[in-house]
Amino acid sequence: MKVTEKPIMSLAADHAACRVVIVDQTQLPFIVEQRVLLTWQDCAEAIRTMRVRGAPLIGVTAAYGIALAMQRDATDGALSTASKALAATRPTAVNLAWALDRMSRLLTTTDPADRADVAWAEADQIAAEDEDNNRRIGEHGLAIIRDIYAKTGRAVNILTHCNAGRMACTEWGTATAPIYLAHREGLPLHVWVEETRPRNQGLITQWELADAGVNHTYIVDNAGGHLMQHERVDLVIVGVDRVSRRGDVANKIGTYLKALAARDNGIPFYAAAPSSSIDMDIEDGVPEIEIEERDTSEVSMLRGWDRNGYVTDVRMLRDRTPISNPGFDVTPSRLVTGLITECGIFAPADLARSVAKGTCK
Ligand code: MRU
Repeated sequence: MKVTEKPIMSLAADHAACRVVIVDQTQLPFIVEQRVLLTWQDCAEAIRTMRVRGAPLIGVTAAYGIALAMQRDATDGALSTASKALAATRPTAVNLAWALDRMSRLLTTTDPADRADVAWAEADQIAAEDEDNNRRIGEHGLAIIRDIYAKTGRAVNILTHCNAGRMACTEWGTATAPIYLAHREGLPLHVWVEETRPRNQGLITQWELADAGVNHTYIVDNAGGHLMQHERVDLVIVGVDRVSRRGDVANKIGTYLKALAARDNGIPFYAAAPSSSIDMDIEDGVPEIEIEERDTSEVSMLRGWDRNGYVTDVRMLRDRTPISNPGFDVTPSRLVTGLITECGIFAPADLARSVAKGTCK
């Protein structure tokens, strides 16, 4: 079951042809262009440059990177080289390390002669699980939207940040899955889509929601707090890049400010968190989660259509202006109402217990 009738998939793997086809997300939503990945180096480049992005999709791409590596050279040395290089591409989203660890653990106990086939099958499995988990996150999150609608009797206003949508995953998205299911059920809803400077991933969310016919409005990042104060937001749902044991949430820069504003206005703040994003080795996310510092050109440049309809980049700052560009921030668990996982919704304080009990993960 797909979100739209003729979906453009973020990634499609073809074992027979030994290739992975992605949508180049650096071009979205201006140009929809596919790109073929034939080697693990192609996968590493795609992750590093954000041709593929979003925590779950990064993990899936890395898994296929290992499959492509094993196709050419199935030795322990090749496995270790590809794994280390892929792991070094982006630091914050734990799904990357999670997928690579899962692949390595399986392959080191597999006969080298079988490694290529086993690696493709495991990467396919990781991709299929991602789709299934996101749909289940959607079903759990749908209950929250239904509840709010039952109480208010009017369209539910949901605010989201960045793109935790179909393009960030194999299908559904995490934060968007409850939205798609509510829309499919006919629940009246409206989504506030935050622009999400500097890379404007909100443009991708807007493009996805428009494609699925979901009612939405695009806003600048700074508008969220104002809308919350004026009772125009019922619910915040964001994605995650890494969740600590106690439920601190690393997500796209700006998420923390929305959580603060939500708390000040008594608005529930949920993070849609597949278990592949939960890092049980980290307790306090603020000092312990590595925050990616990205290239300054993301801040100094902006992309858009010019007056003649051509896609163009413009510079907003002089070359020598000092710029800081942290890619993510950490929302402390005290500001998180709940984590919507594929196994159910947990208060941050219950997350570790549920994981330990094997309820999730
Ligand atoms: O830098 P990006 O675009 O990879 O960051 C994406 C996000 O922060 C998403 O919100 C997060 O990965 C969740 S995606 C389901």
